[in-house]
Amino acid sequence: MKALEGVKILDFTHVQSGPTCTQLLAWFGADVIKVERPGVGDATRKQLVDVPGADSLYFTMLNHNKRSIELNSKNETGKEVLTRLIQECDVLVENFAPGALDRMGFSWERIQEINPRIIMASVKGFGPGQYEDCKVYENVAQCAGGAASTTGFLDGPPVVTGAQIGDSGTGLHLALGIVTALFQREKTGRGQKVLAAMQDGVLNLCRVKLRDQQRLAAGPLKEYSQFGEGVPFGEATPRAGNDSGGGQPGRILKCKGWETDANAYTYFITQAAVWEAICDVIGKPEWKTQEGYATPPERLDKLNEVFDAIEAWTMTKTKFEVMDICNPLNIPVGPILSMKELAEDDGLRETGTIVEVDHPERGSYLSVGCPIKLSDSPVDVTRSPLLGEHTTEVLSEVLGYSGEDLDRVIGSGAVGEVKADAAE
Ligand code: COA
Repeated sequence: MKALEGVKILDFTHVQSGPTCTQLLAWFGADVIKVERPGVGDATRKQLVDVPGADSLYFTMLNHNKRSIELNSKNETGKEVLTRLIQECDVLVENFAPGALDRMGFSWERIQEINPRIIMASVKGFGPGQYEDCKVYENVAQCAGGAASTTGFLDGPPVVTGAQIGDSGTGLHLALGIVTALFQREKTGRGQKVLAAMQDGVLNLCRVKLRDQQRLAAGPLKEYSQFGEGVPFGEATPRAGNDSGGGQPGRILKCKGWETDANAYTYFITQAAVWEAICDVIGKPEWKTQEGYATPPERLDKLNEVFDAIEAWTMTKTKFEVMDICNPLNIPVGPILSMKELAEDDGLRETGTIVEVDHPERGSYLSVGCPIKLSDSPVDVTRSPLLGEHTTEVLSEVLGYSGEDLDRVIGSGAVGEVKADAAE
């Protein structure tokens, strides 16, 4: 038994933000039926191709545990099938450009008419207002949501982060909105509209930077390195390099081998509670009691000196040795792990966070499994569907088309070229 067993999702999503959301729902047990344009499918199927002829990793890694039906939602028979899907499903998830569903003839009003219990969940770039009609991709959202202006170093340009907080981050927000709406429907019997705007999702994840924006009114942000360096603050939250975002100063420091290994670094946090242990480890026992160093507020204008001393020590150790020495002393540190190291991490494979999946076109590949573990709803990651792999199966098993009626739909061209063995 899976948590969302019995929940049917009409998955009208593409690219990354929507698919991450529906993939999570599929992992929790929902039946996710991905609707794709005949012969074309989700654009990511053929983006960043590494194995000629095979679905790309971009697509396969975002669409596990789903079924795929080809459907032209703009022709008459296609609209008929889509209407049947809306009748049968509990949730419609989409991340088309603003207005695309209305242009297909499926406004929220029409969707509610067809099925008043349905939840319609959308990702858009912006919420209602000046920019609501814009098409938006990941990095645009990172810029518009406050992440880019607060990422990078003070003397450099804004920087986007490798974490896909605009796409996958918004997909996560949307998934929470969907299960919350499903929960409310249990009591009201009604569906509702769920919107997750990418700008809002990014800003939500940048909450601490809006905190700092307001703190600026009370004076300089003393935990930022620029305070100790005597660099004045401007009107907006500045870029803070690798400074910690919390009240415990932290930095990325070089470790043994940094000259040749781009990832031979550790994060090191000078948590107040373990200051004495830090002083002993780095060979500065005098700082435990010395005026100007003994308490956190005294150290705020000396962060460069403090971290230089710590780095002089971390440079004599590998990032894993730093971890081994600091962990037993409760000093929070973290090695900078490369994607190669993560891909080869046995522990992550044992927990299912990294999974190896077999695919008929591309063979075996690695993916990130479900990052949320439910003790009563285990996840089995299965490969992404081929384009239209389940068209006949969905038409007959989910929508009840059979005999001449099924032949009519298939013959109409609305569902692409159905392969004879597709339903097997
Ligand atoms: N049958 C027929 N037509 C279909 C179809 C189907 N099964 N699926 C999609 N289409 C049509 C749409 O109706 C739309 O037609 P229209 O422009 O005539 O209304 C067209 O395909 C293109 O859809 P669109 O969403 O505009 O795709 P795009 O490639 O031009 O834009 C995005 C891509 C991501 C920029 C855009 O979808 C968007 O801004 N989405 C919201 C924000 C978002 O999720 N961004 C992050 C993506 S990771």
